[in-house]
Amino acid sequence: MTTPAATVHVDLPGRAYDIQIGPDLLSGAGAAITPFGGRKHLAIVTDETVAGLHLAELQAGLTEAGFTSAALSLPAGEATKSWPQLQRTVEWLLDQKVERGDVVIAFGGGVIGDLVGFAAAILRRGVRFVQIPTTLLAQVDSSVGGKTGINAPHGKNLIGAFHQPSLVLADTGLLGTLAPRDFLAGYGEVVKYGLLGDAAFFEWLEDMGPAMAAGDMAARVRAVTRSCEMKAGIVQRDETEQGERALLNLGHTFCHALEAATGYSDRLLHGEGVAIGCGMAFELSSRLGLCSQENPSRVRAHLRAMGMKTDLSDIEGDLPDAAALLGLMGQDKKVVAGQLRFILARDIGDAFITSDVPEDAVLSVLDDALAQR
Ligand code: GLY
Repeated sequence: MTTPAATVHVDLPGRAYDIQIGPDLLSGAGAAITPFGGRKHLAIVTDETVAGLHLAELQAGLTEAGFTSAALSLPAGEATKSWPQLQRTVEWLLDQKVERGDVVIAFGGGVIGDLVGFAAAILRRGVRFVQIPTTLLAQVDSSVGGKTGINAPHGKNLIGAFHQPSLVLADTGLLGTLAPRDFLAGYGEVVKYGLLGDAAFFEWLEDMGPAMAAGDMAARVRAVTRSCEMKAGIVQRDETEQGERALLNLGHTFCHALEAATGYSDRLLHGEGVAIGCGMAFELSSRLGLCSQENPSRVRAHLRAMGMKTDLSDIEGDLPDAAALLGLMGQDKKVVAGQLRFILARDIGDAFITSDVPEDAVLSVLDDALAQR
């Protein structure tokens, strides 16, 4: 078993687990899973892309550790987070005779992690699962913290459960097969952690982000580790998002409106929307006199330097007008008692949650951003 370069512990009472981070963890997954017990037959749920690239290595390592395994490969893409694929997954897990004491493996990006985590939450009233996230976005965000679920026609992630994994194996070597666009979309979530609560981390990213994108493994490990440390801290204090956990939604109110406006399509990946949304959240904060005017410029300068989508002008095709985008924000599940909730900032690394945002200010940020297209 390869020793992880870093381990982050998520200290939840009765549900504590480790996030192991580093290159070359995949082939040692069997040894890492052995302590959990259960049958020596493991059910892996993955997607067709990940299966083609990495499933053989995972299964060879499991065999070496004395496990047999079977894999279900679902179609890649957001459309898989649906009732039909959930039903297919749960019934396949039952076909595999997964018992209450067994461990199910979620092997893929955010879609697989969310769907399989939810399947594990409801199968036999809850079985354990291990997340092996294969994208940067999943390694720094969706595989950690226990939010699981699928999408409804009414919106994303509206059906689900909190169900913490028993272990997360974030093999940073797997990031090497990501398309640059997918890597950078995940990087949007990494930047978010610096912006919401760690100015020194943001500064480090300004310096090391380009090397990290180019493949610097030590930088990748450090960025994933710091992101996971921050997320673990927040989840420990507020597992079910009664308060502080909403900080993780910095940039997401704008992002969700833009994702809805672009039909949840390839026109805008989630992490790209988060990055653009972070810039807009800082712009709104600056216009409300909460942070300096330099802050939104600095955020956007870093995104631009990384070659990321930064402004609305970077989204191809038509977008609705500001009022319609504001309407789409109203569909967001972060609306509380009809009030839009925003994550705003007093400075880089100092975000806070508020419902006290004049609609006019939001409209003016959107109007100006649309005018630059
Ligand atoms: N992705 C936001 C959260 O886990 O709370």
